[in-house]
Amino acid sequence: MPVTRLYGFVDREDEMRALNDAWSARPGLVIVYGRRRVGKTRLLIEWINSLGSGVRVAYYQAVPARHEVNLRGLARALEASLGVHGLSRASFEEADALLNLALRDVGDVALVIDEFTYWVRSAPRVVGELQRFADHVLPGTKALLVLAGSLVGVMHRDVLGGGAPLYGRSLRRIRLGGLG
Ligand SMILES: Nc1ncnc2c1ncn2[C@@H]1O[C@H](COP(=O)(O)OP(=O)(O)OP(=O)(O)O)[C@@H](O)[C@H]1O
Ligand SMILES: [Mg+2]
Repeated sequence: MPVTRLYGFVDREDEMRALNDAWSARPGLVIVYGRRRVGKTRLLIEWINSLGSGVRVAYYQAVPARHEVNLRGLARALEASLGVHGLSRASFEEADALLNLALRDVGDVALVIDEFTYWVRSAPRVVGELQRFADHVLPGTKALLVLAGSLVGVMHRDVLGGGAPLYGRSLRRIRLGGLG
């Protein structure tokens, strides 16, 4: 997770409240989106830093690369924050089982995937995989999954849109506009 403490955080009260509401209602799923440089990562860092010390946070920033690259990167972030070992070397089924167990044991946890739309653009099937996770794993945990992305078109079409796997799921969405 990012540990940097930044100063001069402006505004974003509504968005912080929306994240806190989602956190109070966990388990659940939140989508944060808005154009480049609008302040998504900064909002997430401020929110993460505001969580109590008893909360585990796995933060992963996706990259425009093959599915496996992002899966491994996410697995490493999860290993570090949840204290599970072997996730990044496990097969998909093994990793799924390990993660399932770890999330049930670990208590409060924020799972944040930043730049998620990069991942979707290079491997659209990640949305279906997360749908399965949201339907079958998340409900048995005390986790909040936050997906943030700057490709607004990709977010609308492939994540939130009518034909997208997550459509109709009880997710919250936070659209960030420019400051001031
Ligand atoms: N609420 C805020 N108050 C003060 N500075 C901010 C705020 N939000 C963002 N900034 C600053 O604006 C710059 C861009 O913000 P940030 O990196 O969070 O945007 P982003 O939406 O994540 O961009 P990208 O889509 O490129 O990842 C950073 O220097 C950040 O510190
Ligand atoms: Mg960012």
